[in-house]
Amino acid sequence: MKLLLLLPLAFCCLSLSRCEEILVPYDYSATIECLEIPYKPQYNGGIIVNPDMQNGSQGWSQFENAKVNFREFGGNKFVVATQRNQSSDSVSQKVYLEKGILYTFSAWLQVSTGKAPVSAVFKKNGEYKHAGSVVAESKCWSMLKGGLTVDESGPAELFVESEDTTVEIWVDSVSLQPFTQDEWNAHQEQSIDNSRKGPVRIRVVNNKGEKIPNASITIEQKRLGFPFGSAVAQNILGNQAYQNWFTQRFTVTTFENEMKWYSTESVRGIENYTVADAMLRFFNQHGIAVRGHNVVWDHPKYQSKWVTSLSRNDLYNAVKRRVFSVVSRYKGQLAGWDVVNENLHHSFFESKFGPNASNNIFAMAHAIDPSTTMFMNEFYTLEDPTDLKASPAKYLEKLRELQSIRVRGNIPLGIGLESHFSTPNIPYMRSALDTLGATGLPIWLTEIDVKAPSSDQAKYFEQVLREGHAHPHVKGMVTWTAYAPNCYHMCLTDGNFKNLPTGDVVDKLIREWGGLRSQTTEVTDADGFFEASLFHGDYDLNISHPLTNSSVSHNFTLTSDDSSLHTQPSTFVFRV
Ligand SMILES: *[C@@H]1O[C@H](CO)[C@@H](O)[C@H](O)[C@H]1NC(C)=O
Ligand SMILES: *[C@@H]1O[C@H](CO)[C@@H](O)[C@H](O)[C@H]1NC(C)=O
Ligand SMILES: *[C@@H]1O[C@H](CO)[C@@H](O)[C@H](O)[C@H]1NC(C)=O
Ligand SMILES: *[C@@H]1O[C@H](CO)[C@@H](O)[C@H](O)[C@H]1NC(C)=O
Ligand SMILES: *[C@@H]1O[C@H](CO)[C@@H](O)[C@H](O)[C@H]1NC(C)=O
Ligand SMILES: *[C@@H]1O[C@H](CO)[C@@H](O)[C@H](O)[C@H]1NC(C)=O
Ligand SMILES: *[C@@H]1O[C@H](CO)[C@@H](O)[C@H](O)[C@H]1NC(C)=O
Ligand SMILES: *[C@@H]1O[C@H](CO)[C@@H](O)[C@H](O)[C@H]1NC(C)=O
Repeated sequence: MKLLLLLPLAFCCLSLSRCEEILVPYDYSATIECLEIPYKPQYNGGIIVNPDMQNGSQGWSQFENAKVNFREFGGNKFVVATQRNQSSDSVSQKVYLEKGILYTFSAWLQVSTGKAPVSAVFKKNGEYKHAGSVVAESKCWSMLKGGLTVDESGPAELFVESEDTTVEIWVDSVSLQPFTQDEWNAHQEQSIDNSRKGPVRIRVVNNKGEKIPNASITIEQKRLGFPFGSAVAQNILGNQAYQNWFTQRFTVTTFENEMKWYSTESVRGIENYTVADAMLRFFNQHGIAVRGHNVVWDHPKYQSKWVTSLSRNDLYNAVKRRVFSVVSRYKGQLAGWDVVNENLHHSFFESKFGPNASNNIFAMAHAIDPSTTMFMNEFYTLEDPTDLKASPAKYLEKLRELQSIRVRGNIPLGIGLESHFSTPNIPYMRSALDTLGATGLPIWLTEIDVKAPSSDQAKYFEQVLREGHAHPHVKGMVTWTAYAPNCYHMCLTDGNFKNLPTGDVVDKLIREWGGLRSQTTEVTDADGFFEASLFHGDYDLNISHPLTNSSVSHNFTLTSDDSSLHTQPSTFVFRV
């Protein structure tokens, strides 16, 4: 069924020493509907033996105390872990995992009754490595996508687990595909070519419209098309050095605290938007988009004292006033709102108003500003496969509730993934993006940082930024960073705006993506054409006539829409 990915598409590395190596393309597809019959295993199962149970019990065995059955229904064969008394009573297969390899995992799961979260786990050297989870259902098959890496090579046992021991776990179409780092990088490059760049054809003519060969063209990217930025605090106001550093690099920002309820209404009934307004004005002047953060926050700890002491009725009215006040004030001016921040992990408003509280707040915000994208914003969905509260499957459940709301039409929803990493599990990150991306909704990485020893921090940060930027469903990235010493987990520069290693990563990547005013000079061919593949963005160019050296300035914008077909380059004609 997934023809696309089973194509025997193989290509060679450019490096001679590796020319024998076959690079396997990555399968970005994920199924988020629960299906009667599972699809075939991705990558034909990869290194999994007998991945779709066509060959009896070969490769599969009991894990801990479950009983293992092989069953068939409607021609489909699968394995069942039954009589489970503990989470990990299940079915398993032994595999050998190698250090330095990135493993992509998938499986199709069903439970015998109701619904239950089921995780894929690898037991290795007495340790448990989680590769991902799904909320499995009865009577249909759900796809779990995940991934992992290991620190040391060695044997491991793959098994599935669920805290619900009353259910049987049914397993089918299992896949564990190893990728080398080179393959992984090649996937990113290929995806960047498709999603972030477009072919451009520039034609240079004279006043009569005649071709001008040998005209020299200098191109400079003025603004990267892919939204990339960092959070800021109010200390950017009046700090010229910080302003310069920031505006040279970024096209989008999030205010750390200045739009939050506890900042704009620290005293009940007295609203003060002075700081948020001033920051928004500054970024508007510099053409930097602002994400709205946040309408309310579901964390009980981050409520003003006056808020927590209100009666249910007064609180309801206060919430309504807050939503109306901030959303109408900034209507149409923001690149999305984080609406009920972190409502998968926290439930302050649900604890007061019942299970529909967040949904109702989304509905209110949308009714006031119907055209702004309303984001969920949540942590650990990409960062931690053991977190079952905010797993991609749980995220999808909440999104489906929000998608069912009808006020002034559907809410334009966005998927905000905070991305507060420690040690990133990059194959898991990619698989989680695949799963959420299957909704077709825009994904933003909203608060990227890395809490790790300084020896690893910049390296991990780069891995996360590269993966996010390359993923076809990611539409923007904002880091949760600042300048020393007032940073949360990560600074980009010291107090004098000299880059730290993390800031060097940012600059290296922006340059790679064509930015930071790097110029390239090219020459038109015999027909007056110059063609290239460029990153989406705004460009300035100077074209000089080969005979007179007279130079003219032009500009153009390459958008993802222009190049979405990839067959025809975006063509720009300029006169000299
Ligand atoms: C089934 O197992 C046998 C040996 O145990 C093997 O030769 C054969 O290729 C397997 N068939 C499939 C479809 O995996
Ligand atoms: C597990 O529980 C089932 C009942 O659900 C029981 O029949 C079985 O003996 C138990 N197995 C073990 C190993 O405790
Ligand atoms: C373009 O430049 C090349 C070398 O610089 C020269 O050989 C060629 O004649 C030039 N073509 C035209 C049409 O001026
Ligand atoms: C609003 O906040 C600003 C910045 O903190 C402060 O200077 C100003 O006095 C406040 N306005 C009122 C009316 O309290
Ligand atoms: C929550 O919303 C759903 C529909 O969106 C509705 O059926 C249900 O009654 C609501 N529950 C409460 C407690 O308001
Ligand atoms: C174009 O020329 C102007 C004036 O010399 C210069 O300031 C600018 O940097 C040039 N831009 C490019 C893209 O070459
Ligand atoms: C054009 O500029 C080039 C390089 O700056 C120079 O070598 C050449 O003589 C100039 N030609 C004319 C016609 O001015
Ligand atoms: C592009 O150039 C035109 C003049 O040719 C100018 O009016 C416009 O402001 C420029 N746009 C940008 C984004 O620089």
